Amino acid sequence: MRNEILDYFRKADGNFVSGQQISKDLHVSRTAIWKHINVLKERGYIFESSTRKGYRLIYAPNLLTPLEIDSALHTETFGRHVVYLESTQSTNEEAKKIAREGAEEGTIVVAEEQITGHGRLARGFYSPFAKGIWFSLILRPKFFPMEASKCTLLAAVGVCRGIRRMGLADAGIKWPNDILVHGKKLVGILTLMSASMEKIDYIIMGIGINTGIKKNEFPEDFREGATSFLNEGINVSRKDLLAAILGELEKEYSIAQDEGFDKVLDDWRALSVTLGQEVRVIFGDDSYTGKAVDIDRDGCLLVNTGSEVKRVIAGDVSI
Ligand code: BTN
Repeated sequence: MRNEILDYFRKADGNFVSGQQISKDLHVSRTAIWKHINVLKERGYIFESSTRKGYRLIYAPNLLTPLEIDSALHTETFGRHVVYLESTQSTNEEAKKIAREGAEEGTIVVAEEQITGHGRLARGFYSPFAKGIWFSLILRPKFFPMEASKCTLLAAVGVCRGIRRMGLADAGIKWPNDILVHGKKLVGILTLMSASMEKIDYIIMGIGINTGIKKNEFPEDFREGATSFLNEGINVSRKDLLAAILGELEKEYSIAQDEGFDKVLDDWRALSVTLGQEVRVIFGDDSYTGKAVDIDRDGCLLVNTGSEVKRVIAGDVSI
């Protein structure tokens, strides 16, 4: 409802609208409107109110609205359709819904905040209001379902390149697809797939990038292990960063589809901060150490323990 109220004010183009009119048009009580406007004020929106004329929106904070994104984009299809939400449980869940309804390839779902952002291995993902880019990209690749891990690897390559272009030249990929800067996590990626035996219906690439979160604002459990552009000394424009990442993702995706996957694998290797390192692998009750020597075409990490080369399909790898 808050999105609809905001949309209503945007359409009013800086003119006053009465609470009674909004209430009638959006079928919601005047008290509810008042509450929503108060929340918006807390989030940096500025409204002028007049007892006779109602409210008008006079300032909207720096947000990732479709118009803002479009002004920075250089892609053909990625990000050309945007579903924009002020707040949602998880953009991955929203993306799944619209993908099932037929949303076209390249559509993104972007939210200013996620209430229950999902991470890998059933963990949560901290996604506070306007302090990061929380989005999901819908893809409909020509790969076979068993090749879906290609998307995981190419996602990491595209995102890492976009991050580097925006000033963090030391960003690197930690297997399978976290992006680290100076050993701390800046980006998390969670890829989902829906497929039949022979065909991928859709892939959702869910990407979360910390931009404006200060060190002491991260939840305590990952405060030490996480970073953001702001912590690294860069006040990044979120729309330019999103546009840079979508541009790099589009390039890498078309390489993977048209030129074959070896190039993507090489790009991943070149950006990796895992390969060549001594790592600890934890998967369920199993735990071992060894040297990360390569990845294979399925995206599995190859770890030489000294006695054998283990193939890591899933789990936690710490450097
Ligand atoms: C991880 O690091 O474990 C993966 C985190 C993925 C987070 C992104 S934010 C956008 C999208 N929506 C979600 O609920 N998760 C992904």
